[in-house]
Amino acid sequence: MSAARSGGARRRPEEDAGARRAAIVAQLSAARARTLSLLAPLPDEALVAQHSPLMSPLVWDLAHVANYEEQWLLRALGATPLVDATLDALYDAFRHPRASRIHLPMLSPAQARRYAKDVRERALAYLETQRFGGDVLREGGFVWGMVAQHEQQHVETLLATLALMRGWDAHLAAPALPEPPVAVVLDEVEVPALTVTLGSDAAWAYDNERPLHTVSLRPFCIDRYPVTCAQYLAFMEDGGYAREALWHRDGWAEVERERLEHPLFWERDARGVWGVRLFGRWTPMVWDAAVQHVCWYEADAYARWAGKRLPTEAEWEAAACATPDGGRRTYPWGEEAATRAHANLGGDLLRPAPVGSYRAGASAFGVMGMLGDVWEWTSSDFFPYPGFTAFPYREYSEVFFGTSYKVLRGGAWATHPVAIRGSFRNWDFPVRRQIFAGFRCARDAG
Ligand code: AVJ
Ligand code: FE
Repeated sequence: MSAARSGGARRRPEEDAGARRAAIVAQLSAARARTLSLLAPLPDEALVAQHSPLMSPLVWDLAHVANYEEQWLLRALGATPLVDATLDALYDAFRHPRASRIHLPMLSPAQARRYAKDVRERALAYLETQRFGGDVLREGGFVWGMVAQHEQQHVETLLATLALMRGWDAHLAAPALPEPPVAVVLDEVEVPALTVTLGSDAAWAYDNERPLHTVSLRPFCIDRYPVTCAQYLAFMEDGGYAREALWHRDGWAEVERERLEHPLFWERDARGVWGVRLFGRWTPMVWDAAVQHVCWYEADAYARWAGKRLPTEAEWEAAACATPDGGRRTYPWGEEAATRAHANLGGDLLRPAPVGSYRAGASAFGVMGMLGDVWEWTSSDFFPYPGFTAFPYREYSEVFFGTSYKVLRGGAWATHPVAIRGSFRNWDFPVRRQIFAGFRCARDAG
């Protein structure tokens, strides 16, 4: 809320800088606490092992996060001395595909923890000397926001690795799920023809969210809730995985090659009861929660089976953040930072909650669950917005633009609130299933 709106006295710049510094310290600390607490219970063998060719050894992520922080919060800002600049090559995500990282001379878990701690101490000390303007990295605290979001994105990656690990005792205790407060009707919401402003100009927004731009949309209908496990089972039981006509050509090839029959991690017990095997244990299916661990091709096939299609990312963002009078919100519910009442974010629940559990998270159009629970596949390829400029480095977004990646929106249960907003764009290959991704359907109105 601006000073003018709240009616308070205008604050002096030093006070604003102090408040911003405190917010940065809080976000960096929150990210580190999550990283360390997820890794703490694991023995070193589990930290250095490769659990899937799709994921890095956990200890690689830890040192990579520290190295990224060293590069951006020390070196890029002109701080000296550095902690260990020789590590850049080892922890460069572009030089080393995930499947190959196991062969690198990685820091040991103890060394990686020490490195992360040393970098953090220096970064926080250096932060005390900094002001939040004067150049593009410092403006609005951008680079600190980028580093906090980066660590939280890697925390989600750690959770994806922990979710698929076999052979290690589950150490994450899942709390009880909330109950939807009212009966849920799995209907659609109609969004009328609209000219909407998409993207963001917020201080911590990534380059790929910029610039703000307007798009005119034809009227469309969008599912009020993400597709649930029960709905997805109906597709399976109707022969969804056996009917070529429902599938994108490349999707059908993937079904045949990988013998896909159900979402990743779905598994029947000895009595034939469906459940999921995640975080090292089998739990019964939560049928009224959003389906997760489906690839884009499965989402696309389901939508065709349902007589619908996936939403474009513009439609998704309009349904989430536009208002009927042409306005735009940062979050579906408004400008307030996410709380437990708004969305299933932050990782504590370890799984999607029953749809409809977060009434306070409704968008202006009454669409539910747009943030949190599961990332939602959209029909859109990952392309830049008109007027895009790469910032502060090409490898965050620009090198991924093109038709190889599909856009995902909205964040999952594993996503931290600092790394999600209505304008946030995620992307992945259409075959990927280990991420916490589901979907909802849309169709042309009328
Ligand atoms: C935005 C989730 C696709 O994990 O590849 C992490 C985020 N970028 N380190 C990824 C990211 C650099 C990125 N995604
Ligand atoms: Fe990274």
